[in-house]
Amino acid sequence: MSREIRITPSILNADLANLEQEIALIADASDFLHLDVMDNIFVPNFTFDFERASQIIKNSPIGVDAHLMVADVDDIAPAYAQAGATSVTVHAEATKNIVSTLKAIHGEGARTGLALKPRTQIASYARFLDDVDMFLIMTVEPGFGGQKFMLEMLDKVRQTRLIIGARPIWLQVDGGISLETIAQAAEAGADTFVAGSSVFNSSDPNEMIRSLRNCALSVTD
Ligand code: DX5
Ligand code: ZN
Repeated sequence: MSREIRITPSILNADLANLEQEIALIADASDFLHLDVMDNIFVPNFTFDFERASQIIKNSPIGVDAHLMVADVDDIAPAYAQAGATSVTVHAEATKNIVSTLKAIHGEGARTGLALKPRTQIASYARFLDDVDMFLIMTVEPGFGGQKFMLEMLDKVRQTRLIIGARPIWLQVDGGISLETIAQAAEAGADTFVAGSSVFNSSDPNEMIRSLRNCALSVTD
C-alpha cells in the first residue's frame, strides 16, 4: 500500500547549546523538527521550559512537531500551538480532558497529536478519532533518547492502523527508530517516524534521514 512517509528528527540528543547549527544539519531532509518537552514530573528528565521551547519554535526554519511529556498538559498545550508549533502532541496519560484540550489546540490553528506510553492500550482511545490528527505510539518508555526499540509495540501500531482505517490520521512512532527498525514499523502501519540518536550520531544527518525515508518507502510502495 502506497503511503506518504514523514521523518521528524528529534533534537533531544543533539547539542542543545548549538541548536541553530544542529537544526541546520537536518533541515533539508526533514519534514518537521520533533521537539521533546520534558518536565521532570511526567518523565524523569527535563529538557525545555515553555519560554525556551517557544524560542526554538519561533526560530526553526522548518515546522515544529511538539511532543509534550509534561504533567497537567491541558493548560499549557494550546500555548505551544499559539507559539507557532505545526503540531502539538499530548500524552493520553497526562490529560484530564482529552477532547477539550485537542479542540483548544485546533482552535489555535495547530494539528493535534495523542501519544500513548508503551503500557497504554489504544482501544480506549479509538473514540477520539474525530479530534486527533496523529496518533503517537511510543516505542520506548518516554524520557530518554538512545533506547532500544520495543518490538512488542508493533502489534499496537497494527491495531492503531486498523482503527484509523481510511481517515487521514497520521501514525507516528517514537523511540529507537533506525535503519534496523524503521522497515518493521512502516510495515506495521506507521507513516511518521521520530529519529533522534540514529540521525544525530550519524556523520551526515541529512543523508541518514534520506536513507531512513527510502527504507520506509521500500516496504510501503
Ligand atoms: C523519548 C523521546 C524521543 C527520543 C527519540 O522520550 O520522546 O523523541 O528523543 O530518540 P531515539 O531516536 O534516540 O530513541
Ligand atoms: Zn518524542
